[in-house]
Amino acid sequence: MSSKNWDRVPIEPQDVSAPLSTAAIFLSVTIDEGVGNAATARDVISDIGAIVRAVGFRDLPGRLSCVVGIGRKAWDRFGQPSRPSQLHDFSPIVGEAHTAVATPADLLFHIRADRVDMCFEFERLLLARLGVAVTVVDEVVGFRYFDSRDLLGFVDGTENPTGASMNDAALIGEEDPDFAGGSYVIVQKYLHNLDAWNALPVLTQEYIIGRTKSDNVELEVSADERKSHKDLNTIVDEDGVEHDILRDNMPFGRPGHGEFGTYFIGYCRDIWVIERMLRNMFIGNPGGAYDRILDFSTAKTGAAFFVPSIEVLEAIASQ
Ligand code: HEM
Repeated sequence: MSSKNWDRVPIEPQDVSAPLSTAAIFLSVTIDEGVGNAATARDVISDIGAIVRAVGFRDLPGRLSCVVGIGRKAWDRFGQPSRPSQLHDFSPIVGEAHTAVATPADLLFHIRADRVDMCFEFERLLLARLGVAVTVVDEVVGFRYFDSRDLLGFVDGTENPTGASMNDAALIGEEDPDFAGGSYVIVQKYLHNLDAWNALPVLTQEYIIGRTKSDNVELEVSADERKSHKDLNTIVDEDGVEHDILRDNMPFGRPGHGEFGTYFIGYCRDIWVIERMLRNMFIGNPGGAYDRILDFSTAKTGAAFFVPSIEVLEAIASQ
């Protein structure tokens, strides 16, 4: 792939910054070994826009979108001439009390719409096309919960960047010209111990998160206090520049099975930003002072992907 002039070539990102939806499906698959499977997967994802149009056009106000992420191993199997500069496997982060596990996944499909039936129909057609080339390793159906709350009861997503700063935080720019307009994404599926969480006084919950519960106001904390989730995830570099990511977490669950979760999804221009957040959460900042949200939430999966621009995604099949 030749270098592009970022000023002149119109680059269209995938729907990374799609507006918050009322439903989402997070689908992770591995591509099976064996001749032809990588080629099948490559052809299907290059043409994914056709499936989005087939389902999405049936109800345009339903705002169906799908973002495709490609893991490092799959990228290499696709036989591309070069690799996005920061694409690597997700490494486990082992803290003294909690671990961010790494689990296998070659492709991520982040399917969003305002109707769960549209997400379902899209996933059904997608998997039919992928056929025996892939194995589903994780499938989570998320829902918007009242005023964008997670199942811990807090409003989740408030400090997401918006407008131009959203693109700045989430999209690769001229620092990697062949992959400009792309993004990196990290996902983790968390399961909560809701009984234990709900047994905490609300004030304690608020200090763990760093915001008030009912009205979502940021808490001021003194420097000598143990850092909240919000503070551990505020990343400021040596030059005083704050680095943001774009999140679209979704609650999911099956009360009848005692399952209550948050699917974390974070898009970023620089993957080190999310990795730094995770180190702060799991190892702690300072070391040992880990994120107490983890005493009530266990990461069951963890994987990293590159999200190509539409132009690069469509070209993958022809390589
Ligand atoms: C159990 C899983 C998680 C839950 C329930 C959760 C919940 C929340 C809540 C309620 C907030 C405050 C409101 C907001 O600004 O969104 C927040 C903030 C934030 N979280 Fe999480 N989160 C989880 C995991 C993560 C992970 C794994 C990361 C990054 C690796 C992360 C990064 C952030 C960031 C960057 C903020 C905004 C900080 C700020 O600038 O104020 N979260 N989260």
